[in-house]
Amino acid sequence: MGQTDDTKILTNCHLATMQAGSAPYGMIRDGAVAVHQGRIQWVGAATELPATYQGWHKQDMGGRWVVPALVDCHTHLVYGGNRIDEFEQRLNGKSYAELAEAGGGILSTVRATRAASLHELIDASRPRLQQMAACGVGTVEIKSGYGLNLTDEIKMLEAARALGQETGVRVRTTFLGAHALPEEFTGKSGAYIDHIVSEMLPEIARRGLADAVDVFCEHIGFSLSETRRVLEAAIALGFPVRLHAEQLTNLHGAQMAAEMGALSCDHLEYLDEAGAKAMGKAGTVGVLLPGAYYFLRETKQPPVQMMLDHGVDLAIATDCNPGSSPTTNLPLMLSMACTLFGLTPEQALTGATRNAAKALGLGDEIGQISTGFTADLVAWELSSPAELSYGFGQAPKCERV
Ligand code: NIG
Ligand code: FE
Repeated sequence: MGQTDDTKILTNCHLATMQAGSAPYGMIRDGAVAVHQGRIQWVGAATELPATYQGWHKQDMGGRWVVPALVDCHTHLVYGGNRIDEFEQRLNGKSYAELAEAGGGILSTVRATRAASLHELIDASRPRLQQMAACGVGTVEIKSGYGLNLTDEIKMLEAARALGQETGVRVRTTFLGAHALPEEFTGKSGAYIDHIVSEMLPEIARRGLADAVDVFCEHIGFSLSETRRVLEAAIALGFPVRLHAEQLTNLHGAQMAAEMGALSCDHLEYLDEAGAKAMGKAGTVGVLLPGAYYFLRETKQPPVQMMLDHGVDLAIATDCNPGSSPTTNLPLMLSMACTLFGLTPEQALTGATRNAAKALGLGDEIGQISTGFTADLVAWELSSPAELSYGFGQAPKCERV
């Protein structure tokens, strides 16, 4: 194969390939990666680079660690306004649930998001996506759910897609119309679910605006049976499904979603063993959100060991949103997953690469340095991959390569 502009060998680097079942982190010291047309053609020890690649253009990584670009698999990054006042109110004694029940919480962000034009929403959200990218993130999932009517949900999903195009970050969108009951449906949650199922979902599908569908299954969100209706309708339209499950209480949403083949269940502080078992059996990824746990001053930890015992793959995400996790810093989440939830640095990094890709249904495409995968890579100034989980609030320097 001849040398072209999009043909290169990354040299003078160490690799955290994040391949399963090999050395910790899938580590290769003094490695090399051959890339052709954006795909990984070969990966291994530099001394074993086959002769066919020897003539390719070499890109010297200066001794840095090359790691798959991070994947933030759960965010609500597109929104209007902020909830700084509610943060103050919570620290003056009000709970997150009380604020929601009084018409604040998610609904206050819905008001600000509805009031913003598409371009205002893009402008407000752009810096957040840029901050994420600066932390080594190459793929971000962005949920709707602050529009809660067809027009504003479409506006959110279009803003998310537009941001992906202008920043070069891979954006996967998730329709979260069932995030909260909008004011105009107060006392009529069944009617809102009917509206989602018969009007919103089919139109979102027709426009091809969402890659997955999610629901907030919670006593301040939607019940188990309402959740089931939305997920069933989504599956019938061909959408992969995910779920906000057992964040504040246990409604057994995780078990139900896993049995329906969900890609992931997220939060999971109140998950029980039946839920963990169902997730392990179905291959449903458990997405941990230490930012929301920390910011809501939650004390019940997600049952990490129980999930691991049932073979659940764990992912870590920012949950970037104005109410429960106002952060864009995924490396900080890795550190918090270790210190707050007891993950090892290797489990944490796996959770923001290979397992996060799986949570998005992209497990064969990104999140590993493996032959055939997309060459979506970041070079980090690290002394070892564990350093990504070590400092907190001060991500090491990185560059997309
Ligand atoms: O993941 N739990 C529901 N949704 C978000 C919070 C959204 C908000 O408070 O605006 C979450 O924590
Ligand atoms: Fe969330």
